[in-house]
Amino acid sequence: MVLKSSSTIHLLFVFIFACSSKILGASINGGESTVKQENPVKRSDFPSGFLFGAATSAYQVEGAYLEDGKSLSNWDVFCHSKGCGENGENGDVADNHYYMFMNDIEMMHSLGLEAYRFSISWSRILPRGRFGEVNPLGIMFYNRIIDNLVLKGIEPFVTIHHEDFPQELEEKYGSWLDPQMQDDFVHFADTCFKSFGDRVKYWITINEPNLVTEMGYERGVYPPNHCSQPFDFVVQPKQGGLIGLAANCFMYEPLTDSDSDHKAAERALIFNIGWSLDPPIYGDYPQEMRDYHGSDLPRFSPEEKDLMKNSIDFIGINHYSAVYAKDCTNSSCSETANRAIKGFVDITGERDGVLIGEPTSMPIFFVVPRGLEEIVNYIKDRYNNRPMFITENGYSSPKVQDVEVEEIVNDVKRIEFHQTYLASLAKAMRNGADVRGYFVWSLMDNYEWALGYKVRFGLHYVDRKTFDRIPKLSARWYQDFLKNNSQAQADLLGITTPKLVHKQAYLYDV
Ligand code: FCB
Repeated sequence: MVLKSSSTIHLLFVFIFACSSKILGASINGGESTVKQENPVKRSDFPSGFLFGAATSAYQVEGAYLEDGKSLSNWDVFCHSKGCGENGENGDVADNHYYMFMNDIEMMHSLGLEAYRFSISWSRILPRGRFGEVNPLGIMFYNRIIDNLVLKGIEPFVTIHHEDFPQELEEKYGSWLDPQMQDDFVHFADTCFKSFGDRVKYWITINEPNLVTEMGYERGVYPPNHCSQPFDFVVQPKQGGLIGLAANCFMYEPLTDSDSDHKAAERALIFNIGWSLDPPIYGDYPQEMRDYHGSDLPRFSPEEKDLMKNSIDFIGINHYSAVYAKDCTNSSCSETANRAIKGFVDITGERDGVLIGEPTSMPIFFVVPRGLEEIVNYIKDRYNNRPMFITENGYSSPKVQDVEVEEIVNDVKRIEFHQTYLASLAKAMRNGADVRGYFVWSLMDNYEWALGYKVRFGLHYVDRKTFDRIPKLSARWYQDFLKNNSQAQADLLGITTPKLVHKQAYLYDV
């Protein structure tokens, strides 16, 4: 484990403008993902130690928001007061995973998962942060998950912080806007290491600090929806596990062949990825960010730089899309694009009326399989091929209203998505990229933050009334893929009406 012990620091720059991003629409598909592969990618295209898994996060699946000593989190309060998702949906019950985790682990086992990425609810194990006691029932809950995963031979891959934290930390000192949050994060991480580190060998400190910053502190769509100064985090390793950070990693391609758009695409990558990953690897923010932000960008002391340098063992890549980048320093752009936080780059999914890839339910998520190879190559080159994990990659259909369950579970598009993205990843790996694992987002449909339950990324459909998990076609595909059964995979794509299996949905045909 490379992480340095004790207090301090990765200071994450929070720069706020009151504006929102605008994505242009278009009517013509790129079409790349609809091409069925003659020779679909196979499990055996990846090394044997490579981990294939699926991911979730606490607030999105657990529910039981006030059970067994858990306190209110920032998301509980945000959604209760503001009303998130459609019709004010929230994560109070989510997928009821708190009560169904044994079923869910059985489901993972039947699927053949080699690893499961999940996050710890901070307010469940430390209801008052460092101002109160550890909640033994919270610890017990995660112990049971971890023990049962290990029993089934599934590697627990734990995100310490994925969006939610005790509301008390917000109310006491403004959470990430105050350096005191470092002490709370250290306490939280320590508690996790001490309680679970004997069995957990893969840790992610924070999920997508770059996105959290933008959504919570710039655009105000996520809690705490206000603006302020830098926030920091600290980790303290103990038991020889590996620790990484998961960054939200879009791929950016130049909109035109102009030199300025090429530079804009490069800048977008630096402002999006370098912002999160340069500090824990090189000990400082990218020079390009300093050029644009000047003295507004906090400076690290030599001690802080030293502490941060090489402080992560691996890079977590959450990748969903590629978009075009357009320069906004020389040409006029939409008002919302003229943001220093984005490096004065406008982004769009459209070029000359043609979309970069098929649209999905998310405004700037397009299906562009080559984007995964490109982003892995970029990160490989920028960080000297440090070990990488694809910690999230997934698809949600653009149709979210009035969809029948039969249509939802017949998710051929999701299969094509994962097949083509995995083929793209395999290509990057054949060219030397040191990627160690791949996690589908998500194991099951869940609460998609501000968008609610109708945006579905899961391999399993979750009935909102009974909480039955119903495997989609993609779950069966993943199962066959993991068994390296290419004939079954090909046959599946011919199936148009999958059988719906209720109640015991997790028991797959073998
Ligand atoms: C990522 C988040 C994850 C989920 C997916 C769709 O940015 O990390 O929780 O919401 O998007």
